[in-house]
Amino acid sequence: MSADNIRIYGDEILRLKAAPVVDFNESLKATVEDMFDTMQQAEGIGLAAPQVGISQAFLIVGLPHEDDDDIDRLFFANPKILETDGESHFEEGCLSVPGITEDVVRPQWIKLECQDIDGKIHTLEDDGLLARVLQHEIDHINGILFIDRLSPARKSLLKNTLKKIARREPIETGSKTKSAL
Ligand code: CO
Repeated sequence: MSADNIRIYGDEILRLKAAPVVDFNESLKATVEDMFDTMQQAEGIGLAAPQVGISQAFLIVGLPHEDDDDIDRLFFANPKILETDGESHFEEGCLSVPGITEDVVRPQWIKLECQDIDGKIHTLEDDGLLARVLQHEIDHINGILFIDRLSPARKSLLKNTLKKIARREPIETGSKTKSAL
């Protein structure tokens, strides 16, 4: 798969609730490797399986290092948010909704249960960029897009742009975000 395979707004798979991951096998590992390549090619920092046409509950995050060009490669299967706290603003973009960035309000802190690439269960807490990316990607797994989280007024302003994106027509804003999830 390549960046061209990323499903774009209007594609029905982005609206489905993904099925739980049950087989933690070699095929999953190969798919995940492929997804990391795709995400880096698309210059994203997070990617959920439905975005590459796989309706299963897993996602990857590539957290950028501060001191070099490398990333921390993280994988999460069957993530479940157990608790949240606080509120934060962040300018989000999405590889599946190219050209749009919007301020999205989400909880600042999350406590999460998930499985690793071998199926082992972990819990983690975060209140930084990881918490933000995870919430955006978990939304993807549930068929939710970040534009669904905007105020009705904001969303109505984007209506025509979204129609163009769904039809693969060029849009005026066109700015490429550094925080495409
Ligand atoms: Co996204």
